[in-house]
Amino acid sequence: MIHRYDTVIIGAGLAGMRAAIEARVSGSCCVLTKVFPTRSHSGAAQGGIAASLGNAGEDDWPTHMFDTVKGSDYLADQDAVEILVKEAPLTIIDLEHMGVPFSRTEEGLIAQRSFGGHTKQRACYAADLTGHVILHTLYEQCLKHAIKFYPEYLVLSLVLADGVCRGVVAMDILTGDIHGFFGRAVVFATGGYGRAFKITSNAHASSGDGLSIIYRAGLPLEDMECVQFHPTGFYPSGILVTEGARGEGAYILNDQGERFMKRYAPDRMELAPRDVTARAIQTEIDQGRGIGGGAYVHLDLRHLGEEKIRKRLPQILDLAMRFTAVDALKAPIPIQPTAHYSMGGIPTDIRGRVIGDAQGTVVPGLYACGECACVSVHGANRLGCNSLLEAVVYGARAGKVVCEDLPGIEWSDWPKGAVEGVQGEVRALVEREGNESLAAIRDELQESMQKNCGIFRSRGPLQEQLLIIGKLQDRFSRARLSDKGKRCNTELVEILELRSLLDFTELIVRGALAREESRGAHYRTDYPKRDDAHWLKHSLARKGPEGPVFDYKPVRITRYQPKERKY
Ligand code: FUM
Repeated sequence: MIHRYDTVIIGAGLAGMRAAIEARVSGSCCVLTKVFPTRSHSGAAQGGIAASLGNAGEDDWPTHMFDTVKGSDYLADQDAVEILVKEAPLTIIDLEHMGVPFSRTEEGLIAQRSFGGHTKQRACYAADLTGHVILHTLYEQCLKHAIKFYPEYLVLSLVLADGVCRGVVAMDILTGDIHGFFGRAVVFATGGYGRAFKITSNAHASSGDGLSIIYRAGLPLEDMECVQFHPTGFYPSGILVTEGARGEGAYILNDQGERFMKRYAPDRMELAPRDVTARAIQTEIDQGRGIGGGAYVHLDLRHLGEEKIRKRLPQILDLAMRFTAVDALKAPIPIQPTAHYSMGGIPTDIRGRVIGDAQGTVVPGLYACGECACVSVHGANRLGCNSLLEAVVYGARAGKVVCEDLPGIEWSDWPKGAVEGVQGEVRALVEREGNESLAAIRDELQESMQKNCGIFRSRGPLQEQLLIIGKLQDRFSRARLSDKGKRCNTELVEILELRSLLDFTELIVRGALAREESRGAHYRTDYPKRDDAHWLKHSLARKGPEGPVFDYKPVRITRYQPKERKY
């Protein structure tokens, strides 16, 4: 079956739904989503969304911009950051008018808390449920505008004809039927790829499918080596403990009860940026100062007092009890760094249009926004609460640009065989005989990525990881499904997700091996310094006949020249 919409949006997180609210103005619009919209991973964002509202003391967009550029270790494209921070205050007001129930100050203003790497209190929040409430509000807005959703549709391939995007092919997970979605504009908003790692704050759905689809279509992916580890995931699950806890004043302590951040970032302490804080925690653990010598340290909230914890961090209180059996009012929470955010992704220009090469050539009809995109506002290290902001600002922007572009995009013919080709591929996967277990391949991939391509990287383990991925890709060709059915075949979904993981983990590792420097979240113990002379550039990886091929493009620097980054 072929469906026809002016705009086809893939992903129902903040970016996808915000894009839809704009794009529907210029014609028919649908949103395909692998999970039900309100289960999108944006809902897991807890602590806040950044904007220089100045409700908690003086602030302005140039300060927000500088903090973001410095936080990125100067890899962010500064024209893109300027748009992000300038549009932030009105974006928050816009969300408020849509109905987002932000927490308030005594005077009734939107409350703002501190976050790592931000020199001002600029995280607007709704207790510790910020992503959740924005997600639900945007979903309500989409329903109000009668936007058509296709929930539990897994997109499997991009349809390109003569270099122009014509749509996508997707599977209805419930029936197993394969559908074509023919669009004049296609917007990818498919989220991140934290599931490449064993310990992650990401939902099971964050398997980077969108990125893999783009890569398999022969288009490049940018800065894939830049993966963020959030300092505080619950131990052992990796589920997020919001940075908002530290924003409210929580301490991080080692086995000796020491607030060890004073040795790593004396000026910012627990509110240093994520890359610095995650490395500090991992160093304490690696050097035997984890609690009882174990693989975790403590996050202590107790001195904040019961009233503040219940009011500002209710979800953390609940999750601590559910996932670690700790009453955070009475005892510190066991935490460890957790794979959290993908700075890399689908390269776009500042209008959200996907670009196909280092020269910035636009792929007509194709757009991307949110975590799956790399515009790049976060460079090599994102500051907390800038991701919800990026999703909303650049989601809206992509939707508006689609409206501007649509009058110039003609309908053409749906390429023959696009659906049938994917049907054949899926059938072959289901019917394949073999003796390999997909769960075993996935476990080995995630465990080895954690070990060899995690917070600390170096040549030997990265090379070993490439060999492991090669072997796993080979084993994948013999992975067998025990469920041969068509309806609601979750094993089929899992194998398709694993195919994505195996595609792009190779790019993370190859990109990390090539980048012989340390910058932001990419830390090479064998190249511990940033090397602007050789590496102040973005990587672009594309599929070549014999594997990934790398190219590079310059960083756009407008206001702030790179300098040493100290906290
Ligand atoms: O720590 C947090 O609440 C996460 C926020 C973010 O990733 O921006």
